[in-house]
Amino acid sequence: MENLLSSASSHRTLPDGRFVVPPEHRPPASPAGAASMPVIDLSLPRDVVRAAVLDAGKDLGFFQVVNHGVPERAMRDMEAACADFFRLRAEDKAAYYSEDTDRTNRLFSSTMYEVAGERYWRYCLRLAVFPVDRTEDGWPEKPPQFREVLERFIVPTRSVGMELLKLLCEGIGLRPDYFDGDLSGGEVIMNVNHYPPCPDPSRTLGLPPHCDRNLITLLLQGSVCGLQVAYRGRWIDVDPVPGAFVVNFGHQLEITTNGLFKSVEHRAVTNAAAARTSVATFIMPTMDSVIGPAEELVGTGEGSDPPRYRSFTFREFMSIYKTVGARRESVEKAFKI
Ligand code: OGA
Ligand code: NI
Repeated sequence: MENLLSSASSHRTLPDGRFVVPPEHRPPASPAGAASMPVIDLSLPRDVVRAAVLDAGKDLGFFQVVNHGVPERAMRDMEAACADFFRLRAEDKAAYYSEDTDRTNRLFSSTMYEVAGERYWRYCLRLAVFPVDRTEDGWPEKPPQFREVLERFIVPTRSVGMELLKLLCEGIGLRPDYFDGDLSGGEVIMNVNHYPPCPDPSRTLGLPPHCDRNLITLLLQGSVCGLQVAYRGRWIDVDPVPGAFVVNFGHQLEITTNGLFKSVEHRAVTNAAAARTSVATFIMPTMDSVIGPAEELVGTGEGSDPPRYRSFTFREFMSIYKTVGARRESVEKAFKI
């Protein structure tokens, strides 16, 4: 097992030069910009919520949602169970550890999108989590409450994601069920990210700048800061809001909406004081889904938008994404017309 995994809490200096990211990728010495991220109350009237989601989605590409219907208890229990998982003894965690990038359910460190051998200050427990009855056999058995807590969390969390997709469709004139079926019917993947306290936060990153590969992401970020979003050439902090999900769009949503909603780059910074655990839920298309700009949103006549992306199967997307990396620019190069 990786050195970092077994002795993370005892590091006083970076254990390996590969954790030092080049100066241009480092967190800024001064605090990040403070553009505020909209917090949208999903219990407001539907037309108000739709307008807010549309505005935030088109401008920043990131927003937070509260009063979303996932019980507070389910969220708190999930945070606690995930933190407990990472507190297990190294021997217990070793059973899940794997460096095989083709394996869905596994515990690993850093990320599979390593740039020039750089390493990142992060562990990740990655699981397929939905539908529950088809995936739960692969979930960790320790800590003992983990499976039950995960089930109580993922079912309503996925529903929030599906509801947001509906609102987005309504807002841009797609039929509300556009994303039902294959486009959202692939694996729902969960990344439980864990960033131990880091001895040198100014020279390391927890996660490098990347865009998500899926349709829509819901992130439970906990109470410790660390997520930053690219906005107009700067990195802005996403302040934790109790009980909120941070929502962002993956490449598949950008491409199907012909660029109306952008998949925005984000990264995670580390800190020296406290461990941070976040839970990202990714709604994905099936591997055989054909992805491309929705016909309703493109046209060739005057005044209409020509398609900005070519069509492909999600399987093809994933194989290219794995080789070109997760930066926005490289994915655009591969799929933009
Ligand atoms: C991710 C991600 C951010 C965070 O898992 O894709 O962007 O704050 N996580 O952990
Ligand atoms: Ni991400």
